Amino acid sequence: MKKSNRMKLITGVASLLAVSVLALHLQAADDKEDSMKAFMKAYHKAPKGVDPICKKALDGKATPEELKKLIAGYKEMTLAKAPKGDEASWKEKTTKLYAAAQGLEKGGPEAAAKYKAAVDCKACHSLHKPD
Ligand code: HEC
Repeated sequence: MKKSNRMKLITGVASLLAVSVLALHLQAADDKEDSMKAFMKAYHKAPKGVDPICKKALDGKATPEELKKLIAGYKEMTLAKAPKGDEASWKEKTTKLYAAAQGLEKGGPEAAAKYKAAVDCKACHSLHKPD
């Protein structure tokens, strides 16, 4: 093979690889976003007349299992990139939420008030929820 042809082949293969790595990366990001949406739906929102898990957790009525999953979901959020808005603000809000939910598990007089402040839907959505 001529040298220039070999170069062409190599660049061709390299760019093909780059494209598939990019595609995989985007795929993973999509999965993360979908899991955040699913988590919001399952834990922050409930059908009419039913308390969502976050409300039950606030009232001390969530089962230990529900509380565990809630905490795990918040942990995922702290690890995820902000779907929108400032990374530092996202990190601060999700870390607070994660810590507050762990506080609910431990109990204590301030736990519910802290969680209530941290789970402020509007404060987070207005900055970080994509339209
Ligand atoms: C710390 C940040 C944060 C808090 C607090 C928060 N959310 Fe969200 N929520 C998000 C983000 C980010 C999205 C968008 C996820 C996406 O589009 O990938 C979202 C999306 C949603 C969705 C849309 C799901 C969908 O299918 O599009 C619902 C419903 C929702 N949240 C309910 C709530 C409710 C109710 C509360 C308060 C009890 C709340 N959230 C508190 C960050 C938050």
